[in-house]
Amino acid sequence: MEERTGWAPVLGALRHKRVPQHRYTVFYYLGGMTLFFFLVQVCTGIMLMLYYRPSAQEAFESVEFIMTTVPFGWLIRSIHSWSANLMVFFAFIHMCSVFFLKSYRPPREMTWISGVVLFLLIMAFGFSGYLLPWNQLAFFATKVGTDIAGVVPGIGGWILRFLRGGDRVGGPTLSRFYGWHVAILPAITFVFLVIHLALVQMKGMSVPVAAEEETKRRPPLKFFPDFGLRDLSGWILALGVLAALAALFPWELGEKADLFAPAYANIRPEWYFVFMFQTLKLVPGGEILGIEYEAIPIVLFGLGGLFLMLVPFLDRGAARTGRSPLWTAGGIVVIAAMVVMTCLGYQSLVPLYVVAATAILLLIFAFIVRGPK
Ligand code: HEM
Repeated sequence: MEERTGWAPVLGALRHKRVPQHRYTVFYYLGGMTLFFFLVQVCTGIMLMLYYRPSAQEAFESVEFIMTTVPFGWLIRSIHSWSANLMVFFAFIHMCSVFFLKSYRPPREMTWISGVVLFLLIMAFGFSGYLLPWNQLAFFATKVGTDIAGVVPGIGGWILRFLRGGDRVGGPTLSRFYGWHVAILPAITFVFLVIHLALVQMKGMSVPVAAEEETKRRPPLKFFPDFGLRDLSGWILALGVLAALAALFPWELGEKADLFAPAYANIRPEWYFVFMFQTLKLVPGGEILGIEYEAIPIVLFGLGGLFLMLVPFLDRGAARTGRSPLWTAGGIVVIAAMVVMTCLGYQSLVPLYVVAATAILLLIFAFIVRGPK
């Protein structure tokens, strides 16, 4: 096989790859964990595609059929939904960890940019997938979500019709979202994933400045097989947690979308959009120079995404010395604001507890994977 395929250099690169050991090593597992949930999405998504029908008349019934008649269909659907949420969550904490450890410093600017693109793609997966069961909540959340896009000055109307496939949310929107969800987004994501992972492979793992001394003292781990097997242990644990969540808390279907029903009382997008949704709710009605007030935060969110992408080029301190306390403080303020907005959106402290539980779990795992001194 080696002679025929010429894969020896690839295997050689994996064999030579080393993972530094230091007190932040636990964060090197988060990208791999995101990858695990992505793979689960691909496998379960393909299975769901075998039975799902993307039309306003049949979508809800086909999901009902999957949940009640197809053997283990309920489990596959539940795993797909739980794993989607966990993937967003892990991609987010992976992004936060590389942000705070300043892993975007040269020479990893492109790794960061490809990561931000992947994150936006994951959000698009979530947004498009939410509508597919064609239930009340999804229908109204999509209506509100696309309405928001319509407020963008100048091009809003065009974006709205492009997303909906017409003036209102209906059958054409569902077919369009289905196309995005199962063909366009997977194809683009695959390309960016290959770029991201190839860059990680070529540039090697970064070492935070604060851990440089420690890294010199401690021998690095071989990626193959040592770190790879640890990654795999994490994946097996994640599969257990995922299966338990999916079986104990099956994903609900709700009621079929009724296009003529009065607006649903508790319209709420998925949790990762709630901070934006809540911010928009706080904006008073009215307009200035012909631009609705609401358009201002919407444009700011868009610019925020662009700003996030350019972080490696804007944070000159990190590029020069590996330290940039102001950026770290800024990151903390932004995350705190997102958590506060999400708590307000849900009228609950649960988002805060989730952040605390994540921090505690990461500390426990950091202790487990710390290795010999
Ligand atoms: C589908 C989503 C993603 C997958 C599957 C993924 C996967 C990975 C993997 C496997 C690694 C190597 C191990 C590690 O450091 O954790 C990695 C590293 C990295 N990722 Fe991601 N990632 C994703 C999203 C992101 C996002 C959203 C960002 C940031 C915007 C990002 C930025 C980086 C950077 C800068 C590194 C290099 C870290 C270092 O060298 O220390 N990734 N990613």
